[in-house]
Amino acid sequence: MGMTGRRWCGAALLSLVAATGACTHGEADAAALTNGGDAARGKELIRAYGCGSCHTIPRLAGAVSTVGPNLQGIATRAYIAGVLPNNPDNMMRWIIDPPGIDDKTAMPNLHVGAAEARDIAAYLYTLQ
Ligand code: HEC
Repeated sequence: MGMTGRRWCGAALLSLVAATGACTHGEADAAALTNGGDAARGKELIRAYGCGSCHTIPRLAGAVSTVGPNLQGIATRAYIAGVLPNNPDNMMRWIIDPPGIDDKTAMPNLHVGAAEARDIAAYLYTLQ
């Protein structure tokens, strides 16, 4: 009886550790690897589209605005804008058309193309 209880507890603890890992670093690293975008190009596109006029973005000169959320740590956040599970496909969807996902959002549609969104997402996924 006691033995069974302890074994069950150990198993539960192990799966909890695994689940926690998957929700934080493991998932973010996997996302960066599977996105396939070019992060260096993404950084240039972020500059060109003026994302820094609304966001503080690490390692981007002049991107210090506080209109939208700070994008530091976006790679490890569970949700994008509180509405989409954070994964590469959803990050691209958000970048391409935020009001199409949440009609109350203050982030405008900046007419970012799909290939560009892929590169931008690749840069965002370096922000652990
Ligand atoms: C006019 C201001 C504005 C511009 C320009 C802008 N954003 Fe946003 N962004 C916002 C706001 C406001 C939010 C919060 C949206 C919400 O929660 O509904 C947001 C949310 C986000 C999020 C989700 C953040 C989180 O913490 O979940 C990402 C990612 C993002 N923006 C990326 C970008 C990128 C990349 C660009 C440039 C292509 C960009 N934004 C341009 C205002 C802006």
